[in-house]
Amino acid sequence: MSEKNNYSRRKFVKQNTIAGVGAAVAMSVTPSVFAGCAADTGIPAILGGTKIRTGEWPSWPLWDPAADEEQVIRVLRSGVWSRAEMVTRFEETWAELIGSRRCLAVVNGTNALITALAQSDIGGGDEVIVPPYTFIATVIAVLQTGAMPVFVDTDPETFQIDVNKIEEKITPRTRAILPVHILGLPADMKRIMTIARKHNLVVIEDACQAWLAEIDRRKVGTFGKAGCFSFQNSKNIPIGEGGAIVSDDDEFMDRCYSYHNYGNPYGSHVGTISSGTLIAGTKQRLTEYQAAIGLAQLQRLEEQTEKRNRNAAYLRSEIRRIPGILPYKLTPGVTRCAFHLFPFRYRKEEFSGLSREQFLKALDAEGIPAMSGYTPLNKMPYMKNVLESKNFRLMYTPEMLDYDKYMDNNQCPENDRLCEEAVWLFHPLLLAEKKDMDDIADAIWRISRNADKIKNL
Ligand SMILES: Cc1ncc(COP(=O)(O)O)c(C=O)c1O
Repeated sequence: MSEKNNYSRRKFVKQNTIAGVGAAVAMSVTPSVFAGCAADTGIPAILGGTKIRTGEWPSWPLWDPAADEEQVIRVLRSGVWSRAEMVTRFEETWAELIGSRRCLAVVNGTNALITALAQSDIGGGDEVIVPPYTFIATVIAVLQTGAMPVFVDTDPETFQIDVNKIEEKITPRTRAILPVHILGLPADMKRIMTIARKHNLVVIEDACQAWLAEIDRRKVGTFGKAGCFSFQNSKNIPIGEGGAIVSDDDEFMDRCYSYHNYGNPYGSHVGTISSGTLIAGTKQRLTEYQAAIGLAQLQRLEEQTEKRNRNAAYLRSEIRRIPGILPYKLTPGVTRCAFHLFPFRYRKEEFSGLSREQFLKALDAEGIPAMSGYTPLNKMPYMKNVLESKNFRLMYTPEMLDYDKYMDNNQCPENDRLCEEAVWLFHPLLLAEKKDMDDIADAIWRISRNADKIKNL
């Protein structure tokens, strides 16, 4: 890695608050003088031993001035900054990479989801099935349309929505399923599409963390009616902010375009000549310089995705032997992941009762930054506020707005436990070399062997 890509710890943390995962990642960047393992005493660093990892982890986002800047500077100097050719080029490139007929770039992933749901005629009085193990934006998008989120429990082995529990949550009001390919691992789209067809439901995929992930060599985001992506700064395609909708449905995409541009006519979505605004749209246009940054980031995505997959597979095979460490399992047919995050479950019972927080501190002391991930989304106070809101009172029966009843109907016990056990590694770690994955495995092994001593610290 070049000097320019190295950050001080404070700078990294300041610049990389992961809005997408709701956590800040502290990457260990202490300059390396010794190869950590050479001086390895076997004593955990948190107990005064030599830390395993003294080298730096790849920083994020990456930017290569030589390769990336010419196009961005050209845009800046042109003065054409509002949506024009560069955004169209970005859309065409992303559609081709995903294998979708159309792509619309928008301001962020949240608004990609809102647009796709709204233009699928999802709104007040409808129910939308969602997983609780996701970023809040998934649920916010449903609420913004006026629809009611219905939570289906998580399969803790895959971290994805439990497809065996979807049908029991379908009611006459259910209009859509919003599966999330969370952490960049694909949800079981084949089963989800079968259920959706059987019950005549719309499927909008939240692929905001799953760029280039595949099931049977087909990219996620192309199974449902539409797929939505995020290009926020922590993401594997970092633009600062940005989002996209992909779909093969031309009429739907014309409406999405119109909606993202004040409801003006577009494609098949036309009125009489000079009829002006056709629908109550909004403004969600990406800028030209964002698209230029995005095109630069896309140059390295394929290679980075391959590397993340190779390193993740290796790391998984190394840590699965450690008692109490349960790495992710993949849903059927997955041929590639995005690995926005590398997840495993941590069972403290197998670590002499060492809490997850203590485990994370011990890992950090070894030079391995990790985080605990999401808290249960189905249990947060916002739903009380929503159910009491003016709009919801106009759209739903008092029974549907009963908070205690809503909470009861949306219990997700497996997800609750997962939220207490999950540990994530942030994707730039997977862009290091294979030998660096050994540092992670060695650190976990070391903590495992000394868990009782660390616990008594
Ligand atoms: C699963 C998921 N859905 C939706 C979003 C929203 O994307 P954005 O932050 O671009 O609005 C994110 C981003 O963090 C996400 O991780």
